[in-house]
Amino acid sequence: MVSVPPQVRLISFVALFAFFQSASAIQQLLAFDKISEGAYRHESIPTAIDVITRLGNGQIVLNTTSADVTVANDKQKWNTTVSDDDSLWEDPNYLSQFDAIAFVMTADKDDGSTTLLSPQAKVNFAKYIQNGGGFIGFHVACGCLYDTPFYGRLVGAYFDYHPEIQPVGIKALTNNNPSTSKFPASFQINEEVYHYRTDPRLLPSAPIVLLSNSTVFNDPQAANRTRSDGPPPRPLAWVRSGNLLDAPSTPLGQGMDDPEYGPKYSGGPGRMFYTSLGHLNETWQQIPMQAHVAGGISWVMASPTCRSRKGDSPLKEQSSPSDVPNSAIRSRRYHSKR
Ligand SMILES: *[C@@H]1O[C@H](CO)[C@@H](O)[C@H](O)[C@H]1NC(C)=O
Ligand SMILES: *[C@@H]1O[C@H](CO)[C@@H](O)[C@H](O)[C@H]1NC(C)=O
Ligand SMILES: *[C@@H]1O[C@H](CO)[C@@H](O)[C@H](O)[C@H]1NC(C)=O
Ligand SMILES: *[C@@H]1O[C@H](CO)[C@@H](O)[C@H](O)[C@H]1NC(C)=O
Ligand SMILES: *[C@@H]1O[C@H](CO)[C@@H](O)[C@H](O)[C@H]1NC(C)=O
Repeated sequence: MVSVPPQVRLISFVALFAFFQSASAIQQLLAFDKISEGAYRHESIPTAIDVITRLGNGQIVLNTTSADVTVANDKQKWNTTVSDDDSLWEDPNYLSQFDAIAFVMTADKDDGSTTLLSPQAKVNFAKYIQNGGGFIGFHVACGCLYDTPFYGRLVGAYFDYHPEIQPVGIKALTNNNPSTSKFPASFQINEEVYHYRTDPRLLPSAPIVLLSNSTVFNDPQAANRTRSDGPPPRPLAWVRSGNLLDAPSTPLGQGMDDPEYGPKYSGGPGRMFYTSLGHLNETWQQIPMQAHVAGGISWVMASPTCRSRKGDSPLKEQSSPSDVPNSAIRSRRYHSKR
């Protein structure tokens, strides 16, 4: 028998333990649902949070007729932490616990007079994405952080306006993503069809557009638009992979470009998923929506750049003070519950 020195045994035990811990660790999702004061709070947020949580823990069971094979089961798929407390983000180690962050109908005021995150939270969020963390946005997630260009590029475009809620047919443009692989051929819902201030397809990390409208909808404001989000098909949900924060060489305008003398952000090797659907409770209760959401979240979390898939933290480097404007360095240890 070969004798192994105790310290070697200890080291291999520790390595093995670390391996199993990371290999078996359940993936972690932060469901962030902060609404700035005075911004629109969707009534469907609690329903959305409930559905996202139960899709993750296996309480909502989807089968392979209605959902992608990768999410159709009763197993735990991810663990959801629900929070609207961005002061926690000022500790870079907080975000590093999560494989992906979902903005669940987070909202700022449309005129840009509010901003969801503190300057330090924004810096840590950018670093989290630059280190491979995943991003998911639901519905008005494109209607916040209007003053934060890297966020506009991360989500893909900022919200412009929507016509009134009305029945609209939604169709999948591809079956090659778990989010839409089983999307029904004709899906009719009451929804706000979103328009954006810019075309997400102009970003260097081009989106794969997942959903569009299959029917014409009533949109009187369209005739008077000053902003354009590009030609058909109308993007209603999309995924992107890699270079999530990169700006195109031709400025996009509408708050999407880094300021000339301000912080510049690029990179972001992970994945993102955005869907504009989700205004009403009823939307979240429908199986095609649940399959869309479960597939999108799982696809983002399947990125090899995610925390639990690389076996270490996406935030290895701490933010250096030079990244933070002086006004941003402040302590906010205590906060009131919103
Ligand atoms: C939506 O569902 C939430 C509970 O999840 C409920 O509080 C709210 O009243 C519902 N809104 C509508 C319009 O039904
Ligand atoms: C799959 O799920 C759908 C929606 O819940 C249901 O209508 C269908 O009967 C299920 N099919 C099977 C084979 O269980
Ligand atoms: C799931 O998240 C909750 C809330 O953050 C946390 O308390 C719990 O420990 C997590 N469970 C697992 C199995 O990761
Ligand atoms: C989508 O809606 C727009 C605006 O109503 C319309 O111009 C377009 O034809 C619709 N697309 C389809 C495939 O119906
Ligand atoms: C579009 O602009 C015209 C001219 O200013 C105005 O008469 C019309 O009411 C506007 N339509 C909408 C839907 O805002």
